[in-house]
Amino acid sequence: MKDEKSILNAFEENQEVKTIDASRKLRIGFIGTGWIAGAHVQAYLNQPDVEIVAAADLIPGKAAAFFKKHGVDGVKTDYPSHKEMLDDASLKLDAVSVCTYNRQHAAPAIYALNKGVNVLLEKPFTVTTEEAIEVMRAEKKSGKVLSIGFQPRFDENMKMIKKIVESGILGKIYYIQTGGGRRRGIPTPYGTTFIEQDTAGIGALGDIGCYSLDMVLNAIGYPKPLTVSGYKSSFFGTDPNYSNYVKTGHPEYAKKFGVDDFAAAFVRLEGGIILDFRIAWAMHMDTPGDTLIFGTKGGLRIPSTDCWNGTVGGAMKIYHEVCGEQTETVVPIIDTKGVSLFDLKIRTFLDAVKNGTSAPVPSAQILYNQAIIDGIAKSAAAGREIEIDIPEI
Ligand SMILES: NC(=O)c1ccc[n+]([C@@H]2O[C@H](COP(=O)([O-])OP(=O)(O)OC[C@H]3O[C@@H](n4cnc5c(N)ncnc54)[C@H](O)[C@@H]3O)[C@@H](O)[C@H]2O)c1
Repeated sequence: MKDEKSILNAFEENQEVKTIDASRKLRIGFIGTGWIAGAHVQAYLNQPDVEIVAAADLIPGKAAAFFKKHGVDGVKTDYPSHKEMLDDASLKLDAVSVCTYNRQHAAPAIYALNKGVNVLLEKPFTVTTEEAIEVMRAEKKSGKVLSIGFQPRFDENMKMIKKIVESGILGKIYYIQTGGGRRRGIPTPYGTTFIEQDTAGIGALGDIGCYSLDMVLNAIGYPKPLTVSGYKSSFFGTDPNYSNYVKTGHPEYAKKFGVDDFAAAFVRLEGGIILDFRIAWAMHMDTPGDTLIFGTKGGLRIPSTDCWNGTVGGAMKIYHEVCGEQTETVVPIIDTKGVSLFDLKIRTFLDAVKNGTSAPVPSAQILYNQAIIDGIAKSAAAGREIEIDIPEI
């Protein structure tokens, strides 16, 4: 593991430098040791106050092979699921990273919170709003930290969007267009857990849609969603001739595809704000459009990227008036000098656990993100606009 000094060096350009008390090590467990767990493990190894002590995976031998590959010794891995690991009191776990596929987000998170273990839960929060509510009830009962894994939150360019909105230069926000997508980008590099209904539950809508929603909703203070008219489709994923299936020699994935590869929606938010949303894992188009935030005093254009995963695609532009003249102000991209967003995601979570402070990405915000995603799915199934009903926690 890296020493404290080198960690602080890596952060000093863009972050407030804090002393990390390396004498108090947090005992970390992993639930799920697939693709994204690799990013978590590297980020934990970059912290001086962490011991990775245990890991569970449903696939026998996977967790052991994972830590061998990452060169981490001494991790107990003989747990067939999250339950056996969390039942093992001898581990004295402080926190777990839940790195399971979407359909297995709620159950391990609830089980961990009920055991008094802090949780860093990968995005999207859950598949349904009902699951998110159950996780939040367990969070409330436990008093532990639950943070949702939205690392783009820690990007200085993303933070700039929120700063621009909060500066008042745009006036009152009344309309937002957001979303993003890829021409060919159904994520199947490591198998089919992203595209099967039993494991993923939701497709592009949850996978990358949650980032688009977080980008704008976080900027405007997460107003409550009221109604949604949603659409989703799966024309590319279910086609055995989809070019990436053909190129990778997996036309059989078309039969396994059980989620959406495109979604669009018209959402009404509290405060008279309209959200116009579209997201694509695959499409015959370069982009479904830039993100646009319309306000009474100014508008903000945030360029899209060609592989949407929650980053700003280029210099942003504010359209406004100065002394009655139409003016454009360019907000250049901030160079974050190689700061790892995963390091920041893990570090802020660890700090919250150690200091007993609130979660860096709180469930109370992401619940609204989830309610929109779930609302789109439910509205699409019903074929009409629906009201978004969020019960009390
Ligand atoms: N933040 C990011 O940038 C980012 C990037 C990719 C994926 N993700 C998210 O991370 C999650 C996992 O994605 P992935 O690509 O790593 O999936 P994956 O399929 O590669 O790995 C998931 C692993 O979890 C294991 N698992 C499932 N349920 C379990 C349980 N109850 N107990 C123990 N192990 C269990 C599976 O056996 C599998 O090995 C998804 O929800 C995805 O949206 C986030």
